[in-house]
Amino acid sequence: MAQVSLRNVSKIFPPDVKAVNNVSLGVENKEFLVLVGPSACGKSTTLRMIAGLEEVTEGQIYIGDKMVNEMPAKDRNIAMVFQNYALYPHMSVFENMAISLKLRRYPKEEIRKRVLEAADMLGIGKLLKRIPKELSGGQRQRVAVGRAIVRKPLVFLFDEPLSNLDAKMRVQMRTELHKLHIKLQSTMIYVTHDQVEAMTMGDRIVVMKDGDVLQVDDPISLYNHPADKFVGGFIGSPPMNFMDGRIIKKESHFYFDEGKFRVRIAEDMVPKILNYVGKEVTFGIRPEDIHDKLYVSDAPPDNVLTVNVEVVEPMGSEVYLYLTTGLNTFIAKVGGHNRPQVNQDLDIVFNMSKVHFFDKTTEKVID
Ligand SMILES: Nc1ncnc2c1ncn2[C@@H]1O[C@H](COP(=O)(O)OP(=O)(O)OP(=O)(O)O)[C@@H](O)[C@H]1O
Ligand SMILES: [Mg+2]
Repeated sequence: MAQVSLRNVSKIFPPDVKAVNNVSLGVENKEFLVLVGPSACGKSTTLRMIAGLEEVTEGQIYIGDKMVNEMPAKDRNIAMVFQNYALYPHMSVFENMAISLKLRRYPKEEIRKRVLEAADMLGIGKLLKRIPKELSGGQRQRVAVGRAIVRKPLVFLFDEPLSNLDAKMRVQMRTELHKLHIKLQSTMIYVTHDQVEAMTMGDRIVVMKDGDVLQVDDPISLYNHPADKFVGGFIGSPPMNFMDGRIIKKESHFYFDEGKFRVRIAEDMVPKILNYVGKEVTFGIRPEDIHDKLYVSDAPPDNVLTVNVEVVEPMGSEVYLYLTTGLNTFIAKVGGHNRPQVNQDLDIVFNMSKVHFFDKTTEKVID
């Protein structure tokens, strides 16, 4: 069994760079866990501590039920795939894939069997005699993954393995790694700064920022229930729109008042915002939860507002509208048939059952 767990793990690089801050995480056996976050948030450092390439400043790391803080990297039975592949330039594909087994003195026949099996799985069986410079980026990436597979490790660690590939190849390799995970049934921890990769590949996603873990959840929960404004804005493309405004009560109803418009808060959200009546909050709405009123048959009048169209971006199956209230600019994602004119006024409808409210000071979701 290959669970990995981090218990209150911190990493401080001398003199005082806090790269990872009191992180506790459990990775289940056979899970595909993705660490995602902006540059310098501590993703690689976390992975390198699990691999044993970086010492832990505080806390414990367990692989299975063994505490591995003091265990050398080579004894951890973990294989890591890096962004830059790190292949030996003068060795053939076969030798690159075989080297770690050779160093561990595996019998020749076993090495051959494992390399051929992995090469077959990755579709590089015909490239075994070539050297790295005779391969495309995607092929080199497969060799780097193959080198990890042959070791049959307890845990695979991937550090942005696809970021050197062009967009199309990245999508293809993403699917292949996904299939590989299903085939190998091993525990994988995958680092990326690309939220689409995180959403499509992860069983669960860990969102990091400035060394802290902000939220750990499955992709859909993360998308629908972001714990704070950062996660709401980081996951999803185009990102969630944010507007500052005030919660107000009029007669027996509650509204979000932006200054230029006012929309009624859905009944089931009212209990959550009661403490914020009269106060400033940040309102969040995803682009797909904003609709052109023309195409909504029963728009509640309290959820309609008039905005001005600044930019129209046709994407094919959908259109991105950049809209302004005069105070705030935001994006709506509407159907491909929907083509308002630039500069025209447009009546839009907010799906108020899908909106989010965040505390202006803490930026945590109000719930
Ligand atoms: N060896 C080191 N010495 C000092 N500081 C370091 C060292 N390695 C990393 N850091 C710092 O630790 C922080 C986290 O770095 P890390 O490489 O883990 O980020 P990351 O999330 O992987 O970023 P990226 O997406 O850019 O790869 C950064 O501020 C970085 O400058
Ligand atoms: Mg990194």
